[in-house]
Amino acid sequence: MLSFTDTSMAKKIAIIGGGNLGKSIADGLLSNDFEPSHLTITRNRIELLKDYSDKNVVITQNNKKAVQSSDIIIIAVKPYKIEDILKDIASEITSDKILVSVVSDFSIQRIADHFDVQPPILRAMPNTAASVNESITCIASENASDNDIKEVTSIFDALGEVILIDEHLMDAATVLGACGIAYVLRFIRAMIQGGIEIGFDAKTATKIATQTVKGASELLLKGGNHPEAEIDKVTTPKGCTITGLNEMEHNGFSSALIKGIKTSLDKIS
Ligand SMILES: NC(=O)c1ccc[n+]([C@@H]2O[C@H](COP(=O)([O-])OP(=O)(O)OC[C@H]3O[C@@H](n4cnc5c(N)ncnc54)[C@H](OP(=O)(O)O)[C@@H]3O)[C@@H](O)[C@H]2O)c1
Repeated sequence: MLSFTDTSMAKKIAIIGGGNLGKSIADGLLSNDFEPSHLTITRNRIELLKDYSDKNVVITQNNKKAVQSSDIIIIAVKPYKIEDILKDIASEITSDKILVSVVSDFSIQRIADHFDVQPPILRAMPNTAASVNESITCIASENASDNDIKEVTSIFDALGEVILIDEHLMDAATVLGACGIAYVLRFIRAMIQGGIEIGFDAKTATKIATQTVKGASELLLKGGNHPEAEIDKVTTPKGCTITGLNEMEHNGFSSALIKGIKTSLDKIS
């Protein structure tokens, strides 16, 4: 469970862009007893935020007002919208506010360039597993104090795990963590297809594949072993596991994944 720092519990938070990620962040905060009236969410179609206004969260289309009344501002709009948002809210930004952007491929410097004053600016890169509180969120900052970082970390702790990284690794974090969800899902889909071919119905194959992926992750997370050490445990000499695994490698299994990760990074950078 999230343990907010005492100060962040008292702070007011604005989420500019109450879409998929913005709502996941809001859900994380609310499920950890964040005071709803201290939270403001903005989007154009505010009728889609009725569930939140019902809970006493402040809902508005007015980004300036949201910034005025908040201490921590989380920007969660699509990348092509962030310039307009920053221009809109610039006049309301003071040095005592904390700015957090979850927008990919938009640097802290580019955000700072929009303001006359310099508030602490952080970038956070969660993934879609934030909606089930199982995200890995990479957070970077250049000018935030330890306390600012603690405040922001406590928000994203509610969505899963948090690690601090240098900003120069933010694109790599986007690929490995955020795009990574898609790579793993495609892997699971392939496993399901293989499972169906060897005899299971889709539902059963999905259950076996998803729980197996979860179990493999837990072995590493809880056991702390290298993946190959766990593979050694299940590969009997001349057995079916090593034979199948080697066939996958002959067809470029690891290589395809590594090349895909590098290609995704080339596309962002
Ligand atoms: N989804 C993820 O897990 C994830 C992970 C890492 C990073 N990100 C980044 O997070 C950002 C948001 O992604 P998303 O998937 O949540 O997108 P999304 O569902 O499209 O949400 C974007 C939200 O921004 C709102 N918006 C647009 N113009 C606005 C304005 N002028 N003022 C206030 N709100 C405005 C939209 O509201 P209307 O629809 O009402 O216009 C929409 O609710 C992106 O930059 C993405 O790269 C997402």
